[in-house]
Order: sequence, then C-alpha cells, then structure tokens
Amino acid sequence: MWNLNVGRVILALLTTATAAAAVTVTVSATASHAIPTTLWGQMYEDISFSGDGGLYAELLRNRAFQRVTPGTVASLVGWQAVNGASIAVVAESEPVSNALPNALRLTVPAGSTAQVGVANTGYFGIKVTADTTYKASFHYRFPSSTSSGSLSATLSLQSTAGRVFGSTSVSLSRSTSWARVAADLTATESAGDTSNLFVISVDGAEAAGETVSLAMLSLFPPTFRGRENGLRIDLAEALEEMGPAFFRFPGGNNLEGQTVDRRWQWNATVGPLVDRPGRQGDWSYINTDGLGLLEYLEWCEDLNMIPIMGIWAGYALGGTSVPQSQLGPYIQQAADQINFVIGDPATSEAAALRARLGRPEPFALEYVEVGNEDFIGSAPGTYTYRWRDIVTALQAQFPDIHFIASTIPWNPVLTPVPTHYDVHVYQTPTWFAQNSFFYDDFQRNGTLYFEGEYAAISTNPNNIFGSPAQGRLVYPTMQSAAGEAAFMTGLERNSDIVFAAAYAPLIGHATNNQWTPNLLAFDAGQVYKSTSFYVQKFFSHNRGDEYIPSTLPARTGTLYWSVVRKTSTSEIIIKVINTAATVAPVTFELPFANVASTGTAEVLTGGGTTSNTPSSPNAIVPVTSTIATGQTFDYNAPPVSVSVLTFVAP
Ligand SMILES: *[C@@H]1O[C@H](CO)[C@@H](O)[C@H](O)[C@H]1NC(C)=O
Ligand SMILES: *[C@@H]1O[C@H](CO)[C@@H](O)[C@H](O)[C@H]1NC(C)=O
Repeated sequence: MWNLNVGRVILALLTTATAAAAVTVTVSATASHAIPTTLWGQMYEDISFSGDGGLYAELLRNRAFQRVTPGTVASLVGWQAVNGASIAVVAESEPVSNALPNALRLTVPAGSTAQVGVANTGYFGIKVTADTTYKASFHYRFPSSTSSGSLSATLSLQSTAGRVFGSTSVSLSRSTSWARVAADLTATESAGDTSNLFVISVDGAEAAGETVSLAMLSLFPPTFRGRENGLRIDLAEALEEMGPAFFRFPGGNNLEGQTVDRRWQWNATVGPLVDRPGRQGDWSYINTDGLGLLEYLEWCEDLNMIPIMGIWAGYALGGTSVPQSQLGPYIQQAADQINFVIGDPATSEAAALRARLGRPEPFALEYVEVGNEDFIGSAPGTYTYRWRDIVTALQAQFPDIHFIASTIPWNPVLTPVPTHYDVHVYQTPTWFAQNSFFYDDFQRNGTLYFEGEYAAISTNPNNIFGSPAQGRLVYPTMQSAAGEAAFMTGLERNSDIVFAAAYAPLIGHATNNQWTPNLLAFDAGQVYKSTSFYVQKFFSHNRGDEYIPSTLPARTGTLYWSVVRKTSTSEIIIKVINTAATVAPVTFELPFANVASTGTAEVLTGGGTTSNTPSSPNAIVPVTSTIATGQTFDYNAPPVSVSVLTFVAP
C-alpha cells in the first residue's frame, strides 16, 4: 500500500469518441514465450480487518486484551457487562503467560440474582447458523477465592435482545491458579442477522461477591478444511475460487511497523496462542497474530500457492532506518524466519521449533521480498546499505532463494544487482488501460518484475488517494475492473519479464476499513465478490502456458486483447477488453489449420459505474455463452466488458 503518487507518468493523450470501426486482429502461428505458472496470485496483509475479524476465523474481538492499556475504555473494545456485572481489563498480578499480561476481571455484585456475566460483540457482529458447532474456550482463575468447589457457567450465543440460539454449561473450579475450559456450543437456530453476542454468565445468587479473571478467550466456527486455529470458510473459499498461484504476506505496510519495535516479527506469531503477544498493526488496530507464520504457510499449501514472503528490512514506517552498524540482529531475525520455513531442524533452532510444532519437513520457499515499498519517505536513501547488507548475508546462506527489491526499479542503484523487483501502482481506470504497454519498452536483460500491488482506485487523476467525494472508489466498478483487465493483457504480453502480479488489497471489511476498494468485501455475515475479483478469476483460470503474439492494440485506445494457448487442452484463449461505452466489433484471423466452429465466451459486463455491493452483491457476474468461432470469426465486445473467448485449435 502506498500513499504517494510517484513513479509513473500518466499518458495524457485524449482520445476522441468515434463510431467503432471493426478491428482486425491477426494471430501469429507461433508462441513468443512461456507464461510463468506464477503469474496471477494474491497480495495479503492485515488491513481493514482482513485477517483478524476476517480470514482468521476467530469470532471474539479483543480476545486476549493484547497491547491494550488496562483500565481504559479502549481496553474493553468488543466486551460488555451483562446484568450489572462489573468488568475491567487489569494488569494481572499472575498473568496467564508472559506474552499476555492482561486479563478481564469480572465481579458479580453482592445481591445479584439473575444470570450475570460478560459478552463479546464479535468483529462487528457474529454470524450464528443453526446446526453449527462453535468451539469456545478460555482461561480463568479466581484471584481472591477462599472457597473451594466449583461454579457452573453458561456459555451461549444470543441476539442482542436476549434470544438464545444455543448454549452449554461448563464447570469452573474456584482455584486461584489458571485453568482452561473448552466446550462445544451448537446453535439450534439461525440468527436473523449478525447483531449477536457470545455470553459467559454465572448464576448471580450463587456467585454474588465473587471475582473471576478471564484470559485468552476464543470462539471458533467450523474452519476451512477443519484446521484448528483456522480460516473462515466463505472467505477462504472465495480466495480459492480465484485460483491464485502465489500468496504474498505478511505485508505491505503491516510488515513494517510505525516504529522498529512495532515491526512484524515472525517469532511472535508462532507457537501456542497464549505465547503470542500480538502487536499494534499499521492499519489502526491491534493484531492478534493468531494468523501467524505457520498458519500462512499451511494456507499456501492448502491452496497450492507458492509463498512470496516479506522480511523486515530495517525501516519503520514512522521514518526510522536502522543504522548500518546495528543491522546485524535484524538480519539474523530474517535468517531465522527463512530457516523456520525451509531450514533443517538438525542445524537450525528456528527449524527445530517448526519441527516441535509438528512440521519437521521444510515448506517450499523460492521468493523473499526485502522490505516493502522502500521508495517511500526516507527509505530509498538507506535502502542501498540495507539491501546490500541484508541480501549479501542472506544470499550466502540461502543461495536458491530469489530476493525481491522493493524500490522503484533501478532507482536507487543497488548492489548486489537485483534480479527481481516489486512494482506497485494505484491509479485510475483510464491510467490502467492506457498503460497496458508499461512493460513493453523494458529491456530484456534477465531482470524479472512482480506487479505486487495494483488497483484502479479513483476516477480522479488529480487526487488518486482522495475521498469518495473526490472520486475514490468504495467498491470496484465495471469500469475499474475493465481498466485493470486491459492492463493485465499487457502483463500477459510481457510475462517473459513479469513473473507475478496481484491486485491489492485482497480483502476488506465492507464498512470498517482503512482502504477502498478491495477485491473481496465482507462483513460478519457474508462475502461480496467485486467486478475486479471476477477479472482476477478470469485471468487466473485462463492463464494458458504460451503467449501467442497478435496484432498490437492501439496504445491509448479502448480495445485491448491478448491471446494464449493452453497446451494441455489444445485451447486458444483470447481475452478481449472493451473500456468504451459502445460495442466494439473485432475480427480474429487465426493461422491454425483446425479451429473448432464453436467456443465459449465468458463475459463480465455492466454499467461502467456499477459495483457489486452488500446491498446489490450480484449486480455484475460473469455470464457464459456459446459463440461461433473458426479460422476467421467476428466478436462484438459489449460496452465496458471483459470477455474470455475459449475454443479448441489442435
Ligand atoms: C523474537 O525474537 C527477537 C529476537 O530476534 C526477540 O527480541 C523477541 O523478544 C522475540 N519475540 C518473542 C515474542 O519471542
Ligand atoms: C536492465 O535494464 C534496466 C533498464 O530497463 C537497466 O537500468 C539495468 O541496469 C539493466 N540491468 C542489467 C543487470 O543489465
């Protein structure tokens, strides 16, 4: 993510609207290059509750009081008292773990009679579905208990109006030392909306005057592929549906930290949840780090994605660069992070930790990105020594890994000479269409490029990062998706040097977000697939393995295309993008002896300013039809559309 409009010159050529004359596209007989299998994938970081409250399936917000200041209103975010209980976050005199110094103290007032307790409101709601079993757990102790025996507590899912959808009871022993309780909670009824609570309550009369400390509370719905501490099924399935080849993590700005101490540190994100301290993220909320390094790697394996892993590179977003003489421990921490992923448990302590956590075999790792957006602020000035020292040290230890530079290509000049660069751009739909030739003029000298973040985010070229009132998009539109698709035809044509590309951000809460637009929006109840999502899916599923040159589109026109072959199925796949508001007729001339007489057209089209939103989630969805094909055939690209034409040509 970036907040500076730098790096690229907008082609300010104006095209005049004329009636569309048919364009003839002549396709070459031979392929120019192989298309990398890595081409289309996903860029992930925790932003707009994409992780905590989003992909990470945990339902309780502020479950472990990580990084909050005890006694403040903010420390109780997500929690409320039930029936007159007194609740406060305190610095525990005997914390449940070193990583979690705080606990929630619940005191039942003298004279209580009803069920009293504490409730969590979830991440802006909790979805409750009938016949679904939720896994609840928490740590507790009775800090000043003098009595023995046990106290029964009720765990329930309720509407805010008190309707109970499911409940179970657990027995709490009145001990001053910590114990953990876990229970399955099955909903017998679905809630009509997501304004629901998870409630822990006790009988007021029985517990009057008693105090209990609660720590590391958790409530999980069923997760993707049933993984413990896993991912929210509908979001995970939507990400899987896109067909991504890679997953870049953990950021993005969220890798960097505002200060050096607040950087993402791999070792704070692995192991038992009670040993993860959490951190103040870069996007205005506290990260639980429940979705940690091991979870990311397992997710990559589940979806057959290759990881593109970021390491912290000595720069914090607040503007601090670690001096060259003090880089050593950070380089060591990065080496440990890589060893956690691929190291040998016999020789690396980090790899031995991975083995103790149940994974002796290494994961696959080929790409490591060194920092994030080191073209911002004072970062470029220090990246020369940071890159040199970090990459020199790590390349010697990990000769098979490709290190990706995060500055603007070739500025500043870096040694060792980068073999891979990550390029980011947030721009207008028009910019994307008119820059589909961005890479055509790059030298072919062995350097590879990762279009690591891109999205059409505004219709206002003079204020790309402005507000919605100034043209900023809240959700991708048909027009923005078409602009991106036009740009992506250029990435395909240049996939001899562009090895990977990802829209960003990947996921964002529909209303509680720090950035718009997002590829997938969601709330506690649902996932909303954007027009841009369908474009990404189109390209991922129709990547092909050979690029076939054809007549080039006009650089600043409104009609774009690319032609690929999928050898395994003998298919020719043509993407046609029309960014104009009128139909664009096009004639394809193919040199192949056998071309099937019919094929399919998958088409995404609609009003240019139309978006898929929570109130209209399926305003624009792909439609598949049969089309006539042949050695020469005509296709009418609908107004503002992205079409994928597929036919067999053995
Ligand atoms: C992670 O490792 C660093 C040293 O690389 C250390 O300073 C830090 O305390 C560790 N954090 C946790 C939570 O273990
Ligand atoms: C590759 O090309 C770029 C310009 O596109 C140039 O700046 C760079 O020095 C070249 N790199 C090598 C290794 O020749």
